[in-house]
Amino acid sequence: MTSDDTADRRGQPRRAGDRVTTRTAVREAIRSEIAADAPTTTEMRVRRENAGTPVIELDHVSLAFDEPVLEEISFAANEGETVVVVGESGTGKSTILKLILRLLVPDKGRVLIDGEDITHLSFEEALQVRQKMGMVFQGAALFDSMTVFENIAYPLREHTDLNEEEIEARVREKLEFVDLEPDKVMQQMPAELSGGMRKRVGIARGMANNPELMLYDEPTSGLDPLTTGTITRLIMKLQRELGVTSLVVSHDIRSAFRMATRVALLYEHHIVFFGTPEEMAGSDNEYIRDFLGGF
Ligand SMILES: Nc1ncnc2c1ncn2[C@@H]1O[C@H](COP(=O)(O)OP(=O)(O)OP(=O)(O)O)[C@@H](O)[C@H]1O
Ligand SMILES: [Mg+2]
Repeated sequence: MTSDDTADRRGQPRRAGDRVTTRTAVREAIRSEIAADAPTTTEMRVRRENAGTPVIELDHVSLAFDEPVLEEISFAANEGETVVVVGESGTGKSTILKLILRLLVPDKGRVLIDGEDITHLSFEEALQVRQKMGMVFQGAALFDSMTVFENIAYPLREHTDLNEEEIEARVREKLEFVDLEPDKVMQQMPAELSGGMRKRVGIARGMANNPELMLYDEPTSGLDPLTTGTITRLIMKLQRELGVTSLVVSHDIRSAFRMATRVALLYEHHIVFFGTPEEMAGSDNEYIRDFLGGF
């Protein structure tokens, strides 16, 4: 018996039946995406124990440029969570990352990292807090004139006292983590790599300093479905194996559902939904269902 039958038997209007069917289909699709990467019992326990310890928190944040961009934005990513912020183009997703990196300061509200309000920090203090974060920029944004090795070594040279030997060991370790063969790629230039390999190098560079939290801006945009899957799994591996807290900004609702512990949906300056993928799939909200329509 399908949900459609149920709806008709209960004498609900046709439109309500359609709605139930759509929602069931979305739920099923999400369930199978999630099942493919279901966390282990230990991971679930660790997540439950850490629940309620926010690593990143936005507390009633508002920001306007010429026009309001974000209004009264509140959400948090707890330790070990992957929160994915989704929303249409121009809704302020990258702006949220800039606020967390303290490249921007909100007009109102607070941004907290590990419980510390970073909104009023000095430039030097903000740099210190930024050391806790690894950033993967949209399009990977590698330095085109540097080899893969130098790209990943760059943050280590800038922000650590590691010697050459230690830097090389760290670069190799990170390349192996993202499933690239160090001896093959270290001396290559970014232009010689495929789009998916560039993203992986971008992730290796973002995690070079062993950050406790990772920020990703559109990590899967412009990739084919297979490579999108690879990058999605890589982000999940960082969470699972290293316990890294992640905030991902993405258009890609499919990979968002796969990797997110919680999803934040940004619409017309506000977070209109913040919850688990299952809760989102079960939502009655008209805009959420439209947004999920292509799923
Ligand atoms: N420095 C700035 N000065 C003025 N306006 C800005 C600035 N940065 C962003 N904006 C505006 O703020 C809004 C949100 O921009 P943002 O880049 O955060 O959106 P986004 O959700 O990341 O979009 P996309 O999905 O296209 O990357 C846009 O209207 C943009 O034009
Ligand atoms: Mg953006």
